[in-house]
Parts: sequence; C-alpha cells; structure tokens
Amino acid sequence: MAKVHNFYAGPAILPEKAYKMTIDAIKNFAGTGIPIMSISHRSKQFGELMENTQKLLLELLDAPEGYSVLFLGGGASTQFGMVPMNFLKSKAFYLDTGRWASKAIDDAKLYGDVVVSSSKDKGYTYLPKDYTIPQDADYAHVTTNNTVVGTELKHDIDSPVPLIADMSSDFLSRPVDVSKYVLIYGGAQKNIGPAGVTFVVVKDDFAHEQLVKDRPIPNMLRYTTHVDKKSMYNTPAAMNIVGVYATLLWVKENGGLAAMEKRNEEKSQMLYDEIERNKLFVANIPDPEDRSRMNVTFVMKEEYKDLEAKFVEFAESRGMIGIKGHRSVGGFRASLYNALPLDSVKALVKVMQEFEKKYAK
Ligand SMILES: Cc1ncc(COP(=O)(O)O)c(C=O)c1O
Repeated sequence: MAKVHNFYAGPAILPEKAYKMTIDAIKNFAGTGIPIMSISHRSKQFGELMENTQKLLLELLDAPEGYSVLFLGGGASTQFGMVPMNFLKSKAFYLDTGRWASKAIDDAKLYGDVVVSSSKDKGYTYLPKDYTIPQDADYAHVTTNNTVVGTELKHDIDSPVPLIADMSSDFLSRPVDVSKYVLIYGGAQKNIGPAGVTFVVVKDDFAHEQLVKDRPIPNMLRYTTHVDKKSMYNTPAAMNIVGVYATLLWVKENGGLAAMEKRNEEKSQMLYDEIERNKLFVANIPDPEDRSRMNVTFVMKEEYKDLEAKFVEFAESRGMIGIKGHRSVGGFRASLYNALPLDSVKALVKVMQEFEKKYAK
C-alpha cells in the first residue's frame, strides 16, 4: 500500500507514540496485567496517570498557579452550554468567527444578552477586528481557530473582562499566555488525543467566584464539581487519557509549544506558498494574517472550477486522505496538526504541481 498522508480535520493524525502507548495499555496497563479499559478509575495506577497528564499539560502550557486541568465528556459542544450556564449572569461578548462560534452563541443566548462581533457577512473568510468588548460583560468568548473555513487568531487578545476560549483545533499548536484566560476548552480529537475527551483549563478562583449562584445547575455541569474533585467526580474516559498523555509526552520530547509553533509555521507557509504560486488554486482566506496554520483551505480558480472533484480523486490516488473541503465551503482543506510530518506537506505540494502540469492552460 502506498504511504498514506492523513489531512483529516478531526479526528485527526496523532503521534505514533499515542497509538503505541494506547495499544500497550490495552494489553497491560502500567504493569498491572489488566487492560486499561478494565481497571478501576480509583486504582493507584489510573490515579497516577490522571495526575501526571494534568501536571504535564500545565507544564507544557507554562500555566501560572491556580489553574486546574479537567478531562470531561460531552465534547466541546457541551462546553458551549456549560460556559454560559455557569458564568453568564446578564451579558457576554462573543467573537463570531464561524460555524462553531455561532453554535456557542446560540447556547449563550439561552442565559442572557449576547453582544456579537461577526465576520458572517463574508462567509467568515476574515477575522473581525473592529470590536469593543463591553466593560460590563461577564466574560468574552473567542474561538481561536475556525476549523471549517480556515481562519485563526494566532495571538492572545487583551480583554477588559474575563476571557474564555474554544481552542479545539489549535490547542498546543503555539505557546499560549494562560494568564490571559480564565477558561480554555476544546475537544481533544485534533491536536491532543482521541475523541471522547474534552479538555478544560480553568482558573480555580474564577470557577468558584463567578459561578451564577442563584441558578440550579446539575452537578455534572458545574465546573466547581470537577475542580474540587480534580476531574475524578465521575468515571473519566480512561483509555483515551492514555492517548492524551502520550501526545503530551511527544510534544515535550519534540521541544514543547515553541517548537510546535515553528513546525506549524513552516508546514503551513510551504503549503500557502504553493497555493499562491500554482496556476490552478487560490487560497480561501485572502489576508495572510488571518490564515490558519492548522486548517489550510483553498479552492480552484474560477476557470478551473470543474476540476475540483478530479483533484480530490487525483490526490487520493496518491495517498492524500481527507483533503476534501467541509461540505459548507467546498474546495479543499488540508489539516496540518502538530503530528502531521513536514514530509506529508511536501508530498501534497508535489501532487499539486503534478496536477498543474497536467491541466493548467
Ligand atoms: C473549533 C471547534 N469547536 C468545537 C467543535 C465541536 O467539538 P465536539 O465535536 O468535540 O463537540 C469543533 C469540532 O470540529 C471545532 O472545530
């Protein structure tokens, strides 16, 4: 079989170490002779895995004291509702940068007023820049990477009110100033592990002090429940946490978040350069400042539009998996998460050049 290059947007490629350590843990977890999916989550061995994973994540993030790491269920989509349920008293500010941000906004509107700055007018192909976060908002919410259309907020913004971020698709792709956020969340299935784990990095004081006290909130949906129980209030997705731990170890062994950012910059620049140079393609996001390093989206130029399906087929026949664009956008999307090697980008560039030779007029 020809080498496969995995450009899926999520679930997505993980480091080999994540597959290997998960397989090993399925056979015999931590020398117990028991598979990870059959060991009590109250066992010493699992307790250590949970603690080590939480510690390593805080270390990689260089987070200040006073933050907890939670591994919850329900996906990032549950966080869309949990955030306002816990913290929206009267008003919140949301940056509407795409499909996922608007879902978060829909849930926030169930609990209070939502002030929105949006780039919907141009199909989310740019990041909103002229906005003012109201001083009296309970919090501001940003979605740092638009997985579908391919924009990315690559820096930590200054906010006059507590800042919350959905970092599902660019978490651990660059160093983040955790002190600027009170809460960061996301689904693990892109950059940090297998689907089924939702990561939350939360400032403990914020979770306790800003909790809306007069609203009935089920225990499972209250952040303080999980902070107080160190993410062991109920049974965690034990097997998947092995995959997260292995991925974090791999990030550390490969130089940490600054090194990840360097690799991601190099990979995405190589692909954007080819898109700009190639006679057939055009980048979906006009402003290079706003372009995602994680999900590179591009389309065929108008005069070559009828070649779109053919290019997907051509690329697939050469081992490129998952480059078809999201159904709402069309075209192509190459996701270049941390674990995707530079060689896969080089292989895709080569395929684009072969296709150009064959079809460019
Ligand atoms: C930015 C962003 N937020 C939220 C989600 C939803 O995540 P989940 O499927 O874990 O609920 C996704 C999924 O692709 C995403 O890309």
